[in-house]
Amino acid sequence: MAELVIEPQWVIESDAVERVLGDYYGADVAGADLTPPADPTELRGLLRQGAPQLGALTDQMRALFDSGACGVMIPRLGLAHLSTDQRRKSVFALAVLLGNVTETEPDNHRVIWDVKAAPEQERQFSKFSQAPDEAQYHTDSTIVPIPERFFLLYAVTQADCGGGLSILRDGRQVMDTLQQSQAGRAAVDTLRQTPLPIRIPRAFRRKYGATATDGYSYVPVFADKPMWRWRKDKIENGLVKHPDAETPGVRQALDTVAEQLADTTNEVRQVLSTDAIVVIDNHVAFHGRTAFTDTKRHLLRIRFHDASENLEQSWIS
Ligand SMILES: [Fe+2]
Repeated sequence: MAELVIEPQWVIESDAVERVLGDYYGADVAGADLTPPADPTELRGLLRQGAPQLGALTDQMRALFDSGACGVMIPRLGLAHLSTDQRRKSVFALAVLLGNVTETEPDNHRVIWDVKAAPEQERQFSKFSQAPDEAQYHTDSTIVPIPERFFLLYAVTQADCGGGLSILRDGRQVMDTLQQSQAGRAAVDTLRQTPLPIRIPRAFRRKYGATATDGYSYVPVFADKPMWRWRKDKIENGLVKHPDAETPGVRQALDTVAEQLADTTNEVRQVLSTDAIVVIDNHVAFHGRTAFTDTKRHLLRIRFHDASENLEQSWIS
């Protein structure tokens, strides 16, 4: 994880960001309602012109990823004095400058997801981002044909209870360790060669399709893009539904990876303080979070593809 400490002068550009977004989406657009831009390259250009310091900051972040970082954290972004709506817009602009933002779910097309504990009956799609429980190591968007390369988390309000710590593992390092043992090498081979069933929820099936008629797609856990596609709970659920897929080799491979992830030697564990932002390379890193009790904890999450990536793919080619 690379840490970028900045003098947040670019905050003076939050007015310019609001102006550019107002011109692009309509003057009264709310940060919470922002959708993926019709032409991401055009909006990137407009933001770069209107907010050059923010543009330069995202160039620095990009350079850290290009030199091998699996995550970049800025401990204080400099938005703390702004309204939540202005913070949403500034963080959205930062994401657009870094890549092609995606909608959180297909019905309302909103880009920004509020990571906030919600009462159980109100939770929608995500068990992790709306619950206060521990989120074990996983990668995001495992149901998406090509998951977004990046996601960011910005802390509007950090947890005040000592919990809600972010945890991160570099999946390339996990891979290297696996390659050092026979069981590890066998696990990697199995997970590369054996696509496993994962359920595509109905709302997303309309968008991405599914390769099997029962709404499942068969995808490898380990590949090139992404390197890891890991949501252990969803993989296990898929195997319960499709027991034929759970061969002894698959069982052993999954257990071997889980065992490796349980070893916290190379873990990065840190609090995401209020006004901090972290961007994670979702194609190589595993992330998770410790449990928390402070329900005021509030993060913003935005996912985005590399600027050169297509926005939409389907499971069905
Ligand atoms: Fe996640």
